[in-house]
Amino acid sequence: MSEKNVIHTKWMKRAIFLASLGKNTTSPNPRVGAVILDKNGSLISEGFHYKAGMPHAEAMAFNNLKKDAKGGSMYVNLEPCCHHGKTPPCVDKVISSGIKKVYVSIEDPDKRVAGKGIKLLKEAGIQVHLGLCKKESLDLNKAFIYKNITRKSYGVLKWAMSLDGRVALKNGKSKWITNKESRSRVHSFRAEFDAIIIGGNTLRKDNPLLTSRGKKTPEPLRVVFTKSLDLPSNANLWDCNEAKTLVIYDSSSANESYLPRIPKCVEVEKVSSDNPELIAEILARRGCNKVLWECGPKLATAAMRSNCIQEIITFIAPKVLGGENSMNPFGDFEFEEMHEIIKLSDFQVSLIGDDICVKSSFEN
Ligand SMILES: NC(=O)c1ccc[n+]([C@@H]2O[C@H](COP(=O)([O-])OP(=O)(O)OC[C@H]3O[C@@H](n4cnc5c(N)ncnc54)[C@H](OP(=O)(O)O)[C@@H]3O)[C@@H](O)[C@H]2O)c1
Repeated sequence: MSEKNVIHTKWMKRAIFLASLGKNTTSPNPRVGAVILDKNGSLISEGFHYKAGMPHAEAMAFNNLKKDAKGGSMYVNLEPCCHHGKTPPCVDKVISSGIKKVYVSIEDPDKRVAGKGIKLLKEAGIQVHLGLCKKESLDLNKAFIYKNITRKSYGVLKWAMSLDGRVALKNGKSKWITNKESRSRVHSFRAEFDAIIIGGNTLRKDNPLLTSRGKKTPEPLRVVFTKSLDLPSNANLWDCNEAKTLVIYDSSSANESYLPRIPKCVEVEKVSSDNPELIAEILARRGCNKVLWECGPKLATAAMRSNCIQEIITFIAPKVLGGENSMNPFGDFEFEEMHEIIKLSDFQVSLIGDDICVKSSFEN
């Protein structure tokens, strides 16, 4: 890499780092960071997008300017916007600042922008360089990009299991398979998500709280998907002071006479089938970029089958639950041949005390 490229990469990596500071808060918006250098290449400002409705990264960087940006350059990990949303277009600010060069890592997949921001900058005589640190930028905003392209939330499936691959005893008891540190790690991990999904049976068996224990404010939306609507009238998820809860039920199979069991503070939405894809679509419309599926084997299998899961995270404890009828993480996919099986890649393995944590995504 030439000396010049090393310098450009350094500043783009700084923009990406700044963007990552909005990791838990920007949804439904992307994670964006911006750096401004003066005409001599010295840092004169930086900023990042914190939350929807608050200034975009570029606007934040202009607000923080210590010196005139005229003749300078900007590094930003996502194409500057050119539309009036909750805040004015960033391209206008860049153009009026007199900046001469803009380094953009990736185009914004949002149809209102999608290359138009870059075009406007070029038409204003600004040199635009696209593609620096592309891989890192795609990775940082993969959920935002996925949601914009598919109109569905990006799904991560998480489960905890014993060394013999069991997620619960045959009577449904599963508290606790993993150690305290792993469970605390899950609380922090939940803060990265906009919603956490379980099925009705996990609610009945485990009565979970499903919060980040205050690591995210507001807490992620808690979602229960039920076919029967046969949910208890007392449940931790009904405590709306902890976090918001949404019950989604399949109106083709549910018994609506159970509806009064759900308190008024809980939102209820009906769908016309038990296809988990409908959940991913509803949550995307509600602005959820990234959602965590913490369901048991039945819903996990259905969610995998309908392509709602893009990544998997597994906690494996050094324990044996045994039992022919104890629960596996999944039900039957009815594979007959080895070429049909699900293959995973991008393995990341870590130790949490005596538990093992494995993160992986699907092979393309
Ligand atoms: N170790 C772990 O990581 C972990 C995590 C979660 C759960 N678990 C354990 O898993 C057990 C529950 O397993 P589960 O498979 O019944 O989980 P679940 O998360 O309750 O999912 C199944 C339920 O989801 C609802 N559902 C909606 N659409 C569905 C569809 N298309 N296909 C299947 N279900 C759909 C149904 O609720 P209704 O019955 O209300 O209609 C169904 O009973 C519990 O014992 C719990 O302790 C373990």
